[in-house]
Amino acid sequence: MDDFIARRARAQVFNLKPYVPGKPIDEVKRELGLTDVIKMASNENPLGPAPLAKQAIIEHLDDIHIYPDSYCFELKAMLAARLNIGPECIAIGNGSDEILKMLAEAFINPGDEVILAYPTFAEYELVSTVMGANCIKVPLRNNTHDLPAMLEQVSPGTKLVFICNPNNPTGTIVSRQALGEFVRELPRDVLLVVDEAYSEYVDHPDYESAQAMLGQRPQTIVLRTFSKIYGLAALRLGYGISSPEIINTLERVREPFNVNSLAQYAGMAALDDVDHIALSLELNRSGKAYLYQALAEMGLNYTPTQANFIFIDLGRDAGTVFLNMLNKGVIVRSCESFGCPTSIRVTIGTMEQNRRFIQALKAVLQEIEG
Ligand SMILES: Cc1ncc(COP(=O)(O)O)c(C=O)c1O
Repeated sequence: MDDFIARRARAQVFNLKPYVPGKPIDEVKRELGLTDVIKMASNENPLGPAPLAKQAIIEHLDDIHIYPDSYCFELKAMLAARLNIGPECIAIGNGSDEILKMLAEAFINPGDEVILAYPTFAEYELVSTVMGANCIKVPLRNNTHDLPAMLEQVSPGTKLVFICNPNNPTGTIVSRQALGEFVRELPRDVLLVVDEAYSEYVDHPDYESAQAMLGQRPQTIVLRTFSKIYGLAALRLGYGISSPEIINTLERVREPFNVNSLAQYAGMAALDDVDHIALSLELNRSGKAYLYQALAEMGLNYTPTQANFIFIDLGRDAGTVFLNMLNKGVIVRSCESFGCPTSIRVTIGTMEQNRRFIQALKAVLQEIEG
């Protein structure tokens, strides 16, 4: 069979490694025989889903034998009203991951150049490589996108540039000014993708959504998700905001019925659940303050975050720390797969989870240091 795969699978497939997700709780329980496991590895909302979203799902359960609205008419209308744009400027996906895939399928030809930061969210490289792109990875500077260095890489062969704002895994932002300067220099022939999966958490005064630049630069797409602050990661719901022409191009490669009906109803309800959003933000803010203080007291080097996770450079092998933390029932993300072998990324949890994380990390570091 190996020979069959080698001869018949597309060449691009051999340049890929499967995406490494955060380890699921049940897997850790099974593998390690643990009963009490917490996951702080995938930047999910520790408060759970928006209560109004749960209610909406229950109300629509009897209709799941009917195909969903393939055009997400109502959800698009609601988003459009809130974003002050037309529904023709919105694409809805089975998670924003699917919008990334649609972008790559619609725009990338084999040999096109794609520019992205390093480290950043792994999907950009994955979807681009599948389509045969040549990915140019530009190292972060001070854990932040190095936009001047990314500009230097732009050539006539550049098709797409990805900016993750705030960046996963470092939690840093690109400021309004830096993005503005970058866009002034970026040729109009390059599609700019700004992934704002964590934008709801940002409280930095220099941050602005790239939606503000769509008018002047229609060759731009902004991505958002319901998986983070809205707490709907398992339903898979995300969207892109762009010019009608880019959205129409994505529509051509979109699978029919790509967004299930429960996700559509839950998404609309979650947008309206202002209490859940406020509580989630407050929990993130207080958790961040607690973790900053505890990490500083431990003498650990962390990057101040604008998202719902913290990037911590432990200065020692993160894989070992990750495994030892697992044994204590705390799942974090080792950043080895991001190319940062001494760092972990921890999702800001409930206060109880944050305390348990710090306790486990202290114990693990003590064990390792003997
Ligand atoms: C930067 C970034 N973009 C997109 C996603 C994927 O979001 P979704 O669940 O909407 O596919 C994630 C998920 O972790 C992310 O970190």
